[in-house]
Amino acid sequence: MPPSPIDPTSTPAWSRLGEIMQDFTPDFRAWFAENPGRAEEFSFTAADLHVDLSKSFLTGEVRDALVGLAKETAVEERRDAMMRGDRINVTEDRAVLHTALRAPRGSEIIVDGENVVDQVHEVLDRVYAFAEKVRSGEWVGATGRPIETVVNIGIGGSDLGPVMAYEALKPYLQEDLEVRFISNIDPTDAGEKLAGLDPETTLFIIVSKTFTTMETLTNAKVARAWLLDSLPEEVRDDAVATHFVAVSTALDKVAEFGIDPENAFGFWSWVGGRYSVGSAVGTSLAIAIGPDNFADFLAGHRAMDEHFAKAPAEENVPLLMGMLNVFYVNLMGATSHAVLPYSQYLHRFPAYLQQLTMESNGKSVRWDGSAVTTATGEVFWGEPGTNGQHAFYQLIHQGTQLIPADFIAFANPTYPFETDGNDQHELLLGNFFAQTKALAFGKSADEVRAEGTDEAIVPARVFSGNRPTASIMAPYLSPSVLGQLIALYEHITFVQGIVWGVDSFDQWGVELGKEMASDLGPAIAGDDEALGEQDPSTRALIAYYHRFRDA
Ligand code: F6P
Repeated sequence: MPPSPIDPTSTPAWSRLGEIMQDFTPDFRAWFAENPGRAEEFSFTAADLHVDLSKSFLTGEVRDALVGLAKETAVEERRDAMMRGDRINVTEDRAVLHTALRAPRGSEIIVDGENVVDQVHEVLDRVYAFAEKVRSGEWVGATGRPIETVVNIGIGGSDLGPVMAYEALKPYLQEDLEVRFISNIDPTDAGEKLAGLDPETTLFIIVSKTFTTMETLTNAKVARAWLLDSLPEEVRDDAVATHFVAVSTALDKVAEFGIDPENAFGFWSWVGGRYSVGSAVGTSLAIAIGPDNFADFLAGHRAMDEHFAKAPAEENVPLLMGMLNVFYVNLMGATSHAVLPYSQYLHRFPAYLQQLTMESNGKSVRWDGSAVTTATGEVFWGEPGTNGQHAFYQLIHQGTQLIPADFIAFANPTYPFETDGNDQHELLLGNFFAQTKALAFGKSADEVRAEGTDEAIVPARVFSGNRPTASIMAPYLSPSVLGQLIALYEHITFVQGIVWGVDSFDQWGVELGKEMASDLGPAIAGDDEALGEQDPSTRALIAYYHRFRDA
């Protein structure tokens, strides 16, 4: 049992923050004027990432108090405990070792008497060998044809990481190999994704940590039926063996499903689903980008892990960003956090982060079962810039809520288009730089008037500014840099969870809905007695469904 959580509100640092808040009025114009070195003072390097927090609410005294709070809530001790394999996931009595997934070959992390790093590399070697066979055409389907399409079937952490990274790393894909992702129980998903596929050249990867998830098992059965119905009769008997592989911690259940254990890749209870893209859960990605790029992806995670493990708190980017989020939520009242990648390739990154952050820290009790003592968890959301600018940025600029935002951009484009003498990537970056500038410095009434604006509409055109952002830049979006970004947000999430005292690695809150969905089966299927047991609203909704089902 780890030590009890430390109530952040009982610490001297919290009192210090309270004092600071008494006359805390963010004023970026004044802060930059008073401190010409502010950009430098609050910009940091973490692996290949340049992280500018000078347009965040960090000041010297806020930083010191937040670092103090991190120390007084034992963030660094808990980080070390996580990385050495202590059972910090209390409610599930598990170690939390996604960092072991990227530990270098030959290193040692012992869990229950076994070096898990050896196990990790054993599975990685099998995943890489399999990926090479599929990529080279050596792995053939039941009729002897090489694989052209890989279909990943999984949901939540068994989908969001692989699909996000597949989309992000499009320039690294092998041309003649496509990966599709089926996740939703909505039959539309399987229907649309299977459309147009040739069963002879399609490989399914069934990914489920538990191998009990209703969506995944249902879609896997749909895929198996689709395959067997469409392949020539004489090859059907052996088809599952060459067209289905699985990734799971429950290899017995994989065998029950009919998948050859030889074609199953394991992982471990100490890898949370939402932290699992660097395990065999990323097999579809390893096939798509190849083992070398996948190894770079893991090396990127590792570089960020090392920064998080070793950088002093005052320069430790995940620690500072996590503590800033605590500041925004608990002292400034923020309830949401935008993540805005100026990279179309990262269009699924905010969705991926939603599971990572909200499934981790959406908790109201602490790891010792007591109630939390502060607000916890923010709604993470976002879309790539510049699309978001033309949709929801208005609320961030001029709305009444405080919405801290992380902006992410890369110095180099993949497509060096030039139009009318303009480098298109510079147009993108111009927007990236302009938005954080506008959010920080705003536009005063006098500046609006100076443009000759009619007095009646001056108020509508004033930007208050003083809206906090972080700017994250890297030379380009490589597998390594993507790994760094993932690990950065994993560790930010961890830091927040420790301060709040929650178990960031369980997800009991999603269980109730799952149970209820399966309990409702008989009522939906038309069992009157089961229908009669429902509450009036659910009964009426099911009745509506029955009335219109075949209308
Ligand atoms: O419902 C939540 C959840 O348990 C996630 O945490 C997990 O990533 C997802 O379901 C899928 O679970 P599995 O990989 O076991 O199918």
